[in-house]
Amino acid sequence: PATESKRLRIAMQKSGRLSVDSQALFASCGLKINLREQRLIAHVENMAIDILRVRDDDIPGLIMDGVCDLGIVGENVLEEESLQRKLDNDSADYTILKRLDFGSCRLSIAVPQEESYANSSCLEGKTIATTYPRLLARYLKQQGVNARIVTLKGSVEVAPRAGLADAICDLVSTGATLDANGLKEVEVIYRSKAVLIQRKNLCDDKQLKLINKLMPRINGVMQANE
Ligand code: PRP
Ligand code: ZN
Ligand code: MG
Repeated sequence: PATESKRLRIAMQKSGRLSVDSQALFASCGLKINLREQRLIAHVENMAIDILRVRDDDIPGLIMDGVCDLGIVGENVLEEESLQRKLDNDSADYTILKRLDFGSCRLSIAVPQEESYANSSCLEGKTIATTYPRLLARYLKQQGVNARIVTLKGSVEVAPRAGLADAICDLVSTGATLDANGLKEVEVIYRSKAVLIQRKNLCDDKQLKLINKLMPRINGVMQANE
């Protein structure tokens, strides 16, 4: 019948820094997931939920376009997509349900180790490679620095050695990647964690009830981890 409820769709990262913790969170909340490798959609056996395993960069858009109902994503990716969509006059609506206790990282500017660096004015006229051009542009504007931004989807850390850029702006968690590439962190421009987000205008009664059932479980799991 037309009134039948749709299964709740939750987007999570397929593989990467958030995927193991996201999966563990679902398991702790009692979701029985049949996660066969290579599967885009995994059905939750004991609840009306489907898990969509996608690239993390795609998650904000899936929520903002209303294609998925919930998603777990890094704030850095979420903020970058929001800034871009606002510039493009595209819909950028979502609600943060919960700031999670995993996926901590910082978005930082790094320069070659041998370079002397005093403050952000040292970046004036330089070329900076990044996967997060909008967050970087916002920072440079705040600092009143003019620099050229080169957008790379991956291998940002090799850009200075390859002669593509003078500096980079990339995620740092342990710092091992910077070390391995002869770079030093000089500015932290954004601190990020994983967040659980919901699309706007979700109004299906059964889906809302399901979310209301999940939230106390998530809170409980997080308290137990403290
Ligand atoms: C980030 C970043 C570095 C690495 C830094 O990549 O681009 O490669 O993590 O971590 P570290 O300080 O612990 O060495 P991510 O894992 O997000 O993958 P991606 O670059 O493929 O998106
Ligand atoms: Zn990514
Ligand atoms: Mg990387």
